[in-house]
Amino acid sequence: MNDKAHILLDAISIARGAGQIQMANFRSATLKVETKDNEYDLVTAADKACEAFVASKVHELYPTHSVLSEESGDDDVKSDWQWVVDPVDGTTNFKSGLPYFTISIGIRYRGETVIGVVYAPRLDELFTAVKGEGAMLNGEPIKCSACTSISQAVVCTGFPYDKAENADNNIAESVRMIPKVRGYRRLGSASLDICYTAAGILDAFWELNLHIWDVCAAYLIASEAGCEIHRLRTDRAESVLISPKALTQPMLDVLLPSTI
Ligand code: IPD
Ligand code: CA
Ligand code: CA
Repeated sequence: MNDKAHILLDAISIARGAGQIQMANFRSATLKVETKDNEYDLVTAADKACEAFVASKVHELYPTHSVLSEESGDDDVKSDWQWVVDPVDGTTNFKSGLPYFTISIGIRYRGETVIGVVYAPRLDELFTAVKGEGAMLNGEPIKCSACTSISQAVVCTGFPYDKAENADNNIAESVRMIPKVRGYRRLGSASLDICYTAAGILDAFWELNLHIWDVCAAYLIASEAGCEIHRLRTDRAESVLISPKALTQPMLDVLLPSTI
């Protein structure tokens, strides 16, 4: 077994372990919840426990690898290998008792993402990809949607946490998009939204101001499933459209009308 195959198996096992921690805390009446930069941005005891679990497993199994995770940042270990971790993606859903949340682990070698694992424990859906080897959902190959018409598309998005103080908050884009598409969804976990787009369950996804831990694993899963990953702009962190080729331009025409 090569290095990447080994690391993938370990990453899956770590994701499942983190999923167990999430499930042990899901709908707990005593779950500790705090706010971060503003009232909308939450962190729970489960986020912290999952993050500590993943970091300790990575350090135990791969002492030379580094970890970058949402709540703790970069561990500053100098390494060719970096694990990029969102310990709970979809914390608002998790806190509310909605089953749509994940643990997301992207693994980079010399800056390039080579392994992606996104696990939704309540749904028991495991998305995986290895660079150049395709993407899977629960061990079965996945492919992006064959939809070619925006009017037949079910699309998904999300809103940045600074939505109250920043008018550049995806509402104008949403207002333009809603009348054009068959279905418009805001589901609440960018990593799972992108994986569902990879699997052709959703036809396309876009969001502004995501962070690398939200998308590192899911970008690889989406590109290995045949999606296009189009950077919408460079001034708002990870602002991205994920779509099958046939929907990219029709979506861009709505999202970025000034560039037509
Ligand atoms: C959030 C979710 C949400 C997206 C936000 C993210 P978190 O991640 O992915 O769907 O709209 O932009 O920050 O805070 O639950 O890890
Ligand atoms: Ca996240
Ligand atoms: Ca998170």
